[in-house]
Amino acid sequence: SGPDTVSPTGQPTGAEQARMAQSGAFLTDAQGTRLYDTDHSLKAGARGPVLLQDHHLREKVMHFDHERIPERVVHARGAAAHGTFRSYGTAASVTKAAFLTQDEETPVFVRFSTVLGSRGSADTVRDTRGFATKFYTSEGVFDLVGNNIPVFFIQDAIKFPDVIHAGKPHPDREIPQAQSAHDTFWDFVTLHTEATHHTLWNMSDRGIPRSYRTMEGFGVHTFRLVNAEGATTLVKFHWKPKLGVHSQVWEEAQLAGGVDPDYHRRDLADAIEAGAYPQWELGIQTFPDTPDQTFEGIDLLDATNLVPEELAPVQPIGLLTLDRNPSNYFAETEQVAFHVGHLVPGIDVTDDPLLAGRLFSYLDTQITRLGGPNFPQLPINRPHAPVNDMLRDGMHQTAVHRGVAPYRPNSLDGGCPFLAGADNGAFVETPVRVPEATKVRAAPESFADHFSQPRRFWLSMTPVEKEHIVGAYTFELGKVYEQTIKERALQVLANIDPDLCEQVATGLGLPAPAPTVPLADVAPSPALSQIGQTWPTA
Ligand code: HEM
Repeated sequence: SGPDTVSPTGQPTGAEQARMAQSGAFLTDAQGTRLYDTDHSLKAGARGPVLLQDHHLREKVMHFDHERIPERVVHARGAAAHGTFRSYGTAASVTKAAFLTQDEETPVFVRFSTVLGSRGSADTVRDTRGFATKFYTSEGVFDLVGNNIPVFFIQDAIKFPDVIHAGKPHPDREIPQAQSAHDTFWDFVTLHTEATHHTLWNMSDRGIPRSYRTMEGFGVHTFRLVNAEGATTLVKFHWKPKLGVHSQVWEEAQLAGGVDPDYHRRDLADAIEAGAYPQWELGIQTFPDTPDQTFEGIDLLDATNLVPEELAPVQPIGLLTLDRNPSNYFAETEQVAFHVGHLVPGIDVTDDPLLAGRLFSYLDTQITRLGGPNFPQLPINRPHAPVNDMLRDGMHQTAVHRGVAPYRPNSLDGGCPFLAGADNGAFVETPVRVPEATKVRAAPESFADHFSQPRRFWLSMTPVEKEHIVGAYTFELGKVYEQTIKERALQVLANIDPDLCEQVATGLGLPAPAPTVPLADVAPSPALSQIGQTWPTA
């Protein structure tokens, strides 16, 4: 009773037809009827009126009229590539996921993106970059939907519409396209100081990567891995580029963006075409799955936190190689649908409240963006594992399902599909204890410290990286119209580090305020600096 790509008459359907397009000897209409002319409307005489009966004209224009689909509400601009992932077989002690433990090559599709700009915006802007990977594993699809920055702006998904409203262009002037130099962005991140850490990363060199090939990637949230014995481990995922981490300096990015706004997508496609296949090692930081889900005092459910690599080294578990460009941007890069809820046995989620909202949001938005509930059938989204679901009908259904009883149990379809258990490959949610508690709209106390981790980041920078950060804050805040927002931003900087605040204040011609919180006594973490990175190790 599985889906089929062959019509009842035995003719190829859907994807098969799409592959055939532009390869036959004769141009046809969508019904397969050969055409003798596609340049002239049917008219009553060469200078006469166009006739309504011209089906070819109406079909051609109708289809064109509907060529555009909504762009992604965030991460609209992206570039992608196909490749493979090969596990090192070193993760078996912490997960039973076959693609991470067995000696097998897993096909992948990776989409890089900016966050705030529209589909036609420039690659070179100061922004966070998306780093989303679809693993077509033998046990189903696993998506690792991460960014090039290991922390996020907010701790709870309920604020996501707010932070994006603040970051997207102003409602009245529709500027800027992607840069953060505007009042609403700075208003938000200074009123919601949990955004301080992510904003600092954006103002650092990480905000203007040299190439997608030289970016780190991060799963950001803490995930829960489960091994074959059922033992659990908390982890954070890291992608480490084999080429090292490199950025552009600000002036360089301005020139590159002016000359070639497609700088990053061109770089990725050209490199792959030339055989210079970009590679990343996948690594994990592991933490004991303790009831409080903290590590060295760091709340692992707070996505504005990272865990310094000195405290939990990144352990390499596999290698990603991108070696094939998409052949059709729309079919692949635009129609790919990532979702943090696409999990396989051995990888589970935690109670991070930001992750919880994402588990709803991606599926929901894709119904609008991809026109109904059947987007998993699109070629780029199809699992490579066998699919035998009971999902039926709906807009843009392309499968011809067999069988008469899409429910179970049933007694009409010659038996019905088995339900698997954990021992034969089912995804079984980890039976984590849910604390007995009272319903409340509140953040835990452990989410309250918004400045220690940004301070560690600042103190870990080399002098030249600090200089770039000061320059970025001064330039971006210099674009803000509202004086009070600039003053509030300086207060935030003072709470990170008085020296940082002083330098930016001087640049803005404003007085530097004193800190309003005690400055945390944190040790620098050399791995946070891009300079002198010791990776790659393998
Ligand atoms: C898209 C990452 C938080 C909603 C994306 C994409 C990435 C990403 C990489 C682009 C995927 C692609 O290339 O197609 C992240 C990270 C987050 C985060 C790392 C925090 C750790 C959130 C939250 C929400 C959200 C909290 C909503 C509550 C969306 C939506 C899209 C998107 C609606 C568009 C998806 C589509 O149209 O297919 N995100 N995101 N994200 N994200 Fe997130």
